[in-house]
Amino acid sequence: MDVLVVDHPLAQTRLTAMRKSETDSGVFRASLHELTTMVVYEAARSFATESYPITTPVAPTEGTRLANPPLIVPVLRAGLGMADSALALLPESSMGFVGLARDEHTYEPRAYMESLPGDLSGQPVLVLDPMLATGGSLLHCCKLLVDRGCTDVIVCCVLAAPEGVRRLEESGLPLRLVTASIDEGLNDKMYIVPGLGDAGDRQFGGM
Ligand code: PRP
Ligand code: URA
Repeated sequence: MDVLVVDHPLAQTRLTAMRKSETDSGVFRASLHELTTMVVYEAARSFATESYPITTPVAPTEGTRLANPPLIVPVLRAGLGMADSALALLPESSMGFVGLARDEHTYEPRAYMESLPGDLSGQPVLVLDPMLATGGSLLHCCKLLVDRGCTDVIVCCVLAAPEGVRRLEESGLPLRLVTASIDEGLNDKMYIVPGLGDAGDRQFGGM
């Protein structure tokens, strides 16, 4: 699995704002929006383009467009905070949705929502979830996509634990991962350390 860590200075300052426990939810969400722009920008480097004829005010020339814009799939709830920035960079894309909540005792994902096209063959998919911890949630989401025929899944997150990266790698699924950091590991509650806490609660408040 290809893994890209976006270690740009501006990505690291946004990530620092998100990590700090005194950051309020407004600044947390704004930092996530900006950081998502950087992560998706890097993820899009590999996208295929095609030329087509255009005319400038001065002369005819060749323009460039994405040959196959990806389907964007935020993993609810926390991935919702990445959706607007990704769609702003990829206005030609459409969106699917997957809703998952991690059980606080077993740490396994419980699926509560799924809105995806039935056939994803030939369709690249950009999955958005700020946190890759044990990897259970993203693995569940990626399996749904691969089961529908997808052979090119690009996972965009903010923070990954080495345990989650390994789990995605060992799945053998056709994945690439773009993240702003790979942290030290997981604590006994399966939170990323040093991490940033609960990405859903920090954006939207506790349930
Ligand atoms: C968080 C996060 C991931 C998942 C990561 O969501 O957004 O989806 O946990 O943990 P894992 O890698 O161990 O599966 P959560 O289940 O807390 O739901 P939320 O987005 O509604 O807060
Ligand atoms: N989900 C989160 O929101 N944060 C973690 O650190 C782990 C799972």
